[in-house]
Amino acid sequence: MTDRPTLPSIDDITGHQRLRRTRRYEWSRALVRENQISVSDLIWPIFVIEGHDVTEPVSAMPGVERMSIDRAVEAARMAESLGVPAVAIFPNTPPNLRSEEGEESCNPDNLVCRATRAIREAGIEIGIMLDVALDPYTTHGHDGVLRPGGPVGAQTVVRGDQIVGNDATVEILIKQSLVQAEAGADILGPSDMMDGRIGAIRRALDAEGRQDVMIMSYAAKYASAFYGPFREAVGADAHLKGDKRGYQMDPANGNEALREIAKDIEEGADMVMVKPGMPYLDIIARASDTFNTPMFAYQVSGEYSMIHAAAANGWIDGESAMWESLTAFKRAGCDGILTYFASTVAQRLAG
Ligand code: PBG
Repeated sequence: MTDRPTLPSIDDITGHQRLRRTRRYEWSRALVRENQISVSDLIWPIFVIEGHDVTEPVSAMPGVERMSIDRAVEAARMAESLGVPAVAIFPNTPPNLRSEEGEESCNPDNLVCRATRAIREAGIEIGIMLDVALDPYTTHGHDGVLRPGGPVGAQTVVRGDQIVGNDATVEILIKQSLVQAEAGADILGPSDMMDGRIGAIRRALDAEGRQDVMIMSYAAKYASAFYGPFREAVGADAHLKGDKRGYQMDPANGNEALREIAKDIEEGADMVMVKPGMPYLDIIARASDTFNTPMFAYQVSGEYSMIHAAAANGWIDGESAMWESLTAFKRAGCDGILTYFASTVAQRLAG
């Protein structure tokens, strides 16, 4: 019989430090909890359509509807009463108003401008964010206007020899921004990824006496497969020619995201965003360690749809996945999150 070696006690191994101790009760878990989602962290993206007293479901986004402006006003009123700080309004522009150059984006009476004024006129105290980009307004579904891209070679073109022209697009985005500011938007969210647009828009706003309008830059926006359901919601899916890799970021890059964010802050962004959210938590964490500018994530349509689809199949608990995914953004360093779950979360938090 060989002697069994004396095993050390677990207390010797742990050095008497047992991390499970504080996990024992709900009260002790609450006491040591580092991050918590609260209603003041939320921006609620909503979709507007023409018509009166109508809603349309977005098939790939259960629980999300496109709303006529009167319904959007009611949604904003509900959000206000729940304490949601802001809504982000996106249009599903009627096909006959979409064009090659997306002129409807600069129409002071377009859907988002009318929705903004209607919410303001109803006296609803909620922040209104509008997207600065051309994709809901162009017949080709791109965020900017198409221009010859020079000798084609191996470059990623959109159509023929055309690419999304940077400087020509920025000129239109400036007009769009001024029109949106005039309509009463509090936050402009340039989501186009053109170079130099944050500085150009800031200067134009200031020159027009719009120093009070905030800019939340979609600073690190990736060419992502997770935008699919959104494109259905705004009706850009049927239109989109080619892809957006010639201007949105390569998902393989992290350092470049920090350069994009640094640039937008330097050009005058008040807040910066990383988009999509969950696949890019590393970017959010690095950015929030690096910069002091308020940091946001966009939990995009595909992230929302995945959670819903898996839950509908009984594969995950959707409610828990919703809370877990949003808490992860806070842990990574976000000050706030754009999420289609905002109204649900706000209702739950209100009890
Ligand atoms: C448009 C824009 C997109 C989203 C927000 N603004 C789509 C895109 O870039 O193709 C995506 C939002 C989502 O998927 O929820 N510039």
